[in-house]
Amino acid sequence: MRPGRVSPARPVPASIPRPPYAPDAPALIAAVPPEELADRMRVAGRLAREVLLEIAEAVRPGVTSDELDRVCHEACIARGGYPSPLHYKGFPKSLCTSVNEIICHGIPDDRALLDGDIVDCDVTIFVNGVHGDHNETFVVGNVDERGRELVQVTNEAMWKGIEAVRPGARVYDIGRAIQTHAEAQGFGVVRSFVGHGIGTEFHTAPSIPHYYDPYADTVLEAGTLFTIEPMITEGSYELGRIWPDGWTAPTRDGSRCAQFEHTVLVTPTGHEVLTLLPSEERSPLSAASYVLQR
Ligand code: MF3
Ligand code: CO
Ligand code: CO
Repeated sequence: MRPGRVSPARPVPASIPRPPYAPDAPALIAAVPPEELADRMRVAGRLAREVLLEIAEAVRPGVTSDELDRVCHEACIARGGYPSPLHYKGFPKSLCTSVNEIICHGIPDDRALLDGDIVDCDVTIFVNGVHGDHNETFVVGNVDERGRELVQVTNEAMWKGIEAVRPGARVYDIGRAIQTHAEAQGFGVVRSFVGHGIGTEFHTAPSIPHYYDPYADTVLEAGTLFTIEPMITEGSYELGRIWPDGWTAPTRDGSRCAQFEHTVLVTPTGHEVLTLLPSEERSPLSAASYVLQR
């Protein structure tokens, strides 16, 4: 991949409440009562899923990542939400689009997706004072066998990680489940980026490594909110040099990387995946598989 042209930041209507880091945010933002946090996160999670499904409909050879950014931006606003990436630590667009060897944080630009690409679309929406964070990797047209395996195994690995979430488990149980599955298929697990606590803030404690880290021994407690978002590589899991844009993160060896992400809540009996539609609660079908089917 090479840098393309990045269009100007899209405007957000004044009626949409902004997160504190937005340039035009009010000085004071209403606090979220702790007893309302989980329900607000359920809403933000479902809306993130809706936005991602709308983006999935637009993925095809010839579409630019800038166009996917436009779809994301408008879909967030249509739901009364703010696209969290926009102006977050200086990020210039409303969506992250990471193609082929890009691990994460790709900036949408004027490059058209090509038949055979894989593209991760990472949506975060800020609504009712909280963030919902969700991504999937889509195949564009005809992708070779190993590329399709990479996407499939990354999705499976994420679900193995999610299934490890329950009160009393430790954070390292999540990474261990993910790493065991990915490595058994000959793939690598990125160390340089991790899942994160989420809620009124986009990124907060705890860090959730996607590999087994014996130091990640925090015990999970009901009520904790975090993302699980493994980045799985075809070759080396090492990070290459970040692009001059300060964001785009490629693999060191240029091999492909896939990612899937859900926002989860630890419940008294296990976990709840917040970034799904109500109709998906039982049999989560990835948006990536919708793309594969058409
Ligand atoms: N959504 C990404 C994550 O999963 C973070 C994107 S930060 C941005 O944590 F600034 F690049 F948008
Ligand atoms: Co995240
Ligand atoms: Co994300």
